[in-house]
Amino acid sequence: MNNVPFAIAIKFPEIIPGMYDSHILRKLSSMQGQFLDEQAFTQTLSQEDLLLYEVYNFERPKLGGELDSGLSILHPGKVGQEYFMTKGHFHTVLETAEVYYCLKGKGVMVMETPEGEWDVKELTPGVVLYVPPRWAHRSVNTGNDEDLITFFVYPAIAGHNYGDIELQGFRKLILDSGNGPEIVDNPRWQAPEVRHNGS
Ligand code: F6R
Ligand code: ZN
Repeated sequence: MNNVPFAIAIKFPEIIPGMYDSHILRKLSSMQGQFLDEQAFTQTLSQEDLLLYEVYNFERPKLGGELDSGLSILHPGKVGQEYFMTKGHFHTVLETAEVYYCLKGKGVMVMETPEGEWDVKELTPGVVLYVPPRWAHRSVNTGNDEDLITFFVYPAIAGHNYGDIELQGFRKLILDSGNGPEIVDNPRWQAPEVRHNGS
């Protein structure tokens, strides 16, 4: 990979960058066990394996000092009452942060630490969100019919740990109350001390 400056235009309304290193497509079938309403999940999936989100990555060598960046496009929709969301992850190198810049749409970032602290921050165009080291993160599209588009930057050495989230999901879920988004407890989530006692 050339160690020379590069510039990529992300222009409205096309958004899709003219140049990128990888394009990841995540469909409903890859989110087994993550949505609260399992019946709604199975039913939705039996109709169509919907495309939930896409990520265009600008990748750099996995070296200290390098930054990976990219564009996340999370489509609108719901499984039952739960809005479409990304899988969510901790960084494998836990002590690495990430910055998100919201370009379009409406949503939230759900975050938590391994110790069980949690936070939810709104994403609307122009918002810069700092996800500190140690905080797992998942974006959720709470808009009715618009993509949630964010630009992100993080250390190239970070890596992605999906497994810990897949085990029981995030502590908080974002559901449509019928009157807009609400934050609810995830019944599958167990506090670290309970989890580690093996119950
Ligand atoms: C990178 C990062 C984003 C996400 C993207 C898709 O560290 O946080 O690029 O990877 O928003 O979400 P996941 O990776 O959770 O499927
Ligand atoms: Zn990340």
